[in-house]
Amino acid sequence: MKVLFIIVGCFVIQANSIVNKVVDISHWNKINFKLAKEDGILGVIHKATQGLEYIDPTYRDRSKAAKKQGLLWGAYHFGVRASGIYQADHFFRAVGNRSDVLLALDIEPNGNNTMTLGQAEEFVLALVDLTHRHPIIYGSASFLSSYLGESVILRRCNLWVAHYTYDSQPRLPRGATSWLFWQYTDGVKGNKPRKVKGIGPCDRDKFNGTEQTLVNNWGHF
Ligand SMILES: *[C@@H]1O[C@H](CO)[C@@H](O)[C@H](O)[C@H]1NC(C)=O
Ligand SMILES: *[C@@H]1O[C@H](CO)[C@@H](O)[C@H](O)[C@H]1NC(C)=O
Ligand SMILES: *[C@@H]1O[C@H](CO)[C@@H](O)[C@H](O)[C@H]1NC(C)=O
Repeated sequence: MKVLFIIVGCFVIQANSIVNKVVDISHWNKINFKLAKEDGILGVIHKATQGLEYIDPTYRDRSKAAKKQGLLWGAYHFGVRASGIYQADHFFRAVGNRSDVLLALDIEPNGNNTMTLGQAEEFVLALVDLTHRHPIIYGSASFLSSYLGESVILRRCNLWVAHYTYDSQPRLPRGATSWLFWQYTDGVKGNKPRKVKGIGPCDRDKFNGTEQTLVNNWGHF
C-alpha cells in the first residue's frame, strides 16, 4: 500500500507503509488481550480448526474476549490431506459467517498428512462459495512455491508469507508478486520485536499497508 508524501509543489515521493500490529496464536499460547492491546496490537489471527473435525478449544471464548477489547479478529484453518470441501465446511461452521473475521488457510508440511494442491484449491473454492470471500494463504516461500506457482485459483488469494529473516523483505513463493502479511518472527528467530506483552515471545506479523487500510479492510482484503 502506498502512502503519498506531498512536498511543497513539485515532488511526490512514494514510500511503502508497513504496520507491525498483528499476532497469530493458537491454544499453545497464553494471552492477556488487554495487555497485548496496550502493547499496540490491533489484530489477532487465531487457529480455529484443523482437518475435518478438530476445533481449537480456546477459539470461541477468545474470539469473544478479543472483541471485548476491541481487537480485530482472524481465524485460520490448518489444512490436512483430506477433502478440501469438507475442511472448508468444517472451518465455516466453526467460525460462522462473520464478515468482520479475517479468514486464512495455513498450508504447511505435515508429513504424509500434508494438504495437496488439489485439496487447497477445493478449500478455497468451497470457502468462496460459502462466504463470497477468498481466504488469505499462509505458508513459507519455499513450500508454497509448488502451490501458488501451479494454481491460478490459489494466486487469487492474498499471501501471508512466513520468513524469519533479517532482510527487510521476505522471500516470495513462485507465482506470488506481493505479500499482504509477513510472519517475520516465530518469537525466537527473525527480526525484533519478537515478544508482545500479555503473550510473551510469539508469531508476529507485518501488514503491507497503513493502519487505516488494515482496520478498514480487515476481513475483506
Ligand atoms: C503416515 O505416517 C505415519 C508415521 O509417520 C505412519 O504411522 C502412518 O502409517 C502413515 N500413514 C499413511 C496413510 O501412510
Ligand atoms: C455469508 O455471508 C455473506 C455476506 O453477508 C453472504 O453473501 C453469504 O450468502 C452468506 N453465506 C451463507 C452460506 O449463508
Ligand atoms: C504492497 O502492496 C502493494 C499494493 O497495495 C503492492 O503493490 C506491493 O507490491 C506490495 N509490496 C510488497 C513488498 O509485497
